[in-house]
Amino acid sequence: MILNATKDLKQDHLLVNRLGIIAKKCSDGLYNNVVIPIEDIKIISILIQEFVDKFHHGKEEEAYFPQMKEKDDYSEDIRKFLIEHELGRRIANMLLENLIAWTSGINSKEPVARFLNAYSVFINSHTGKEEVFFDLIEEKGSLSHEEHTQLMEHYKVCRNNVGGKDRMEQMIKLIGYLEAREWMKM
Ligand SMILES: [Fe+2]
Ligand SMILES: [Fe+2]
Repeated sequence: MILNATKDLKQDHLLVNRLGIIAKKCSDGLYNNVVIPIEDIKIISILIQEFVDKFHHGKEEEAYFPQMKEKDDYSEDIRKFLIEHELGRRIANMLLENLIAWTSGINSKEPVARFLNAYSVFINSHTGKEEVFFDLIEEKGSLSHEEHTQLMEHYKVCRNNVGGKDRMEQMIKLIGYLEAREWMKM
């Protein structure tokens, strides 16, 4: 598959959705008293903050959406997606706050499980809506070859802003690491 600026974001969604499934599984495990190392939950929180929020939503907010906003009345959809990103950020922050509290000795298992579940619901619904939007853009051929190339260049800048290629590869490996954990198989 040749990557273009739209397909690139769809590729990210595959990883983002894998993380959503991990978050859901982790939440269910906590509610069912499965032993899950807090270090693993911290990795989930880091991936949400760095991979989903800063990297993927960063690409959408800084590059893709501004480019699409002018075209074919996409602005209303984009406005909704931006509001959803904010909601995601709020859930991610509450998850982090409760993880910090848990580390300091306050029993925060229930809120951590709750916000992990909330995040998985949010991300599943959000990427689902964006997929419909991306399909429409592809169908209509709303982006020129030139624009795709420019956006892909812009994505590189976004990636460098969040630690570059190496950091991204590390995060993808961490998703695989979490998927292989014992508690994921329960
Ligand atoms: Fe998004
Ligand atoms: Fe997205």
